[in-house]
Amino acid sequence: MLHYKTIGEGQPIVLIHGFPGDGSAWDNITPGLSDKYRLIIPDLPGAGNSPLPEEPLTLAFMARSVIEVMNKENIKNAVIAGHSMGGYTALEIAAQAPHRIKGLSLVHSSAHTDTEEKKESRRKAIRLMLKGEAQKEMFLRGAAPNMFAPGFADGHPGYLQAFVDKGMALPKEHLAAFYEAMIGRNDTTDVLKNSRFPVQWIIGMKDQVIPKEDVLQLVALSAVADVQLYGDCGHLAMQENPERLARDLDTFIVFCSEIV
Ligand code: MLT
Repeated sequence: MLHYKTIGEGQPIVLIHGFPGDGSAWDNITPGLSDKYRLIIPDLPGAGNSPLPEEPLTLAFMARSVIEVMNKENIKNAVIAGHSMGGYTALEIAAQAPHRIKGLSLVHSSAHTDTEEKKESRRKAIRLMLKGEAQKEMFLRGAAPNMFAPGFADGHPGYLQAFVDKGMALPKEHLAAFYEAMIGRNDTTDVLKNSRFPVQWIIGMKDQVIPKEDVLQLVALSAVADVQLYGDCGHLAMQENPERLARDLDTFIVFCSEIV
């Protein structure tokens, strides 16, 4: 069973973090939302305080683990927000159990698989980080600036360091397992095409991890979509523009409650 926290009371909202973080990734936006909603915030398998499974980690396993948390909390269905790898997980939940989704907010995420080039660069990163702690740190220091819009990190060096620290807190095998899981993930565009729930897209116009061009191809696939373009934002709206993200999520949750 995953480690998770719940904050607040009311309609359940599940928040799924990305790589290489844990549930604390949402800390900047939980104060406002927990006044209105019951937030369920898991650490994905192998992240934060959740154990890594003995079997190879897959997105399907990650999705099943979050569904288990929903079962334990007696949640029939919920609005689920997923950041990046958390969004891949949320889409996989929608593939396995669409009836558990009341609305899907994809925060800097995509339904596409990795390109061959991306898979190769992940394999290279895995080889590097598995060599030792110094190499793991080198990988994280290289990846950190890409998380933010160009220039943002200059004014916020603490955010870069926090990204590196999160990754350093995890065993290198866990980071490698996440990368293997992302390499092996399924295309979930059919999930969007068949969806009967609203889908929200939070898109960083300066996202260097999941480029807007990739995501903008997807937004028209679902029947109902809310597309939010964040002009001066990279891959981490939770840090780069938390006020707007909390507001947009709240508006989306209200919308999902009204129409379903
Ligand atoms: C994340 O933020 O979860 C990852 O950077 C996503 C990815 O590498 O595809």
